Amino acid sequence: MRIQGKRVIITGAASGMGNATTNLFTNEGATVLAVDMPGPGLREKHGANPAVTTLEKDITDADAAEVIISRAVAALGGVDILVNNAGVGYNALAELTPIEQWDRVLNVNLRAMFLLCQRAIPEMKAGMWGRIVNISSVAAFRPDYGLSAYDASKAGVIGLTKTLALELGKFGITVNAIQPGPIYTGMTRNNFDQDYIRQAWERKTAVRRLGQPEDIANGVLFLCLEESSFVTGHALVVDGGQTLRM
Ligand SMILES: NC(=O)c1ccc[n+]([C@@H]2O[C@H](COP(=O)([O-])OP(=O)(O)OC[C@H]3O[C@@H](n4cnc5c(N)ncnc54)[C@H](O)[C@@H]3O)[C@@H](O)[C@H]2O)c1
Repeated sequence: MRIQGKRVIITGAASGMGNATTNLFTNEGATVLAVDMPGPGLREKHGANPAVTTLEKDITDADAAEVIISRAVAALGGVDILVNNAGVGYNALAELTPIEQWDRVLNVNLRAMFLLCQRAIPEMKAGMWGRIVNISSVAAFRPDYGLSAYDASKAGVIGLTKTLALELGKFGITVNAIQPGPIYTGMTRNNFDQDYIRQAWERKTAVRRLGQPEDIANGVLFLCLEESSFVTGHALVVDGGQTLRM
């Protein structure tokens, strides 16, 4: 019960890291507004959990930030913690990337995150306490071919996180990012279910395994603890040592 009574918003909560973080946070005593795209996924995952309120909402909708924060205030009574986890990728060389795909990736991964932070800030300031955790990626500093939109969005997340940390520290609000390495989730399952791809990535890590969504949830929880109040503007790499080597 390390975050007993905290009121939490988690985006992308129907799958992967967002699902694991929702489960861990409610086990630790929080109430959660779980947000994901319209569809049965959210209800299937969290419908039976009395500590979870589900909200089917595309975070890139024009009214998304307002709808999500208002629902959190109505259902939970306020917002103490915001976990900006929802994300999408797109794979094509830069010169072949349609602007519509660039915009989609930047809108989900960075623009919607900014708007949610912006709308959550007054709610956190009211209590002079808050935690914002933004999910970036090791791709922010270790880019790859064909990921120009994704890499740019995840580097942008780090910049946004650090600026918000500076602006909000005096209100008792910390803002941190997590940079996951290879994690077995809905986003990566198609690749990692192929033995030769999974084994190659396992060998790239120091700990010789893929990450699980719970590995990231544990990192998010750490950044939300009372004991972490002196950690802000940090980007925590959770990658099993994948990026240590040249
Ligand atoms: N899996 C990895 O190896 C890895 C590595 C580094 C970073 N990440 C990042 O981790 C985060 C979580 O991804 P995951 O791996 O758990 O993937 P996932 O696909 O399993 O989960 C992402 C969730 O976000 C939701 N989502 C996407 N767009 C949305 C939108 N517009 N509105 C509302 N919900 C939306 C999806 O429906 C999905 O449920 C993402 O930001 C991703 O970029 C993943």
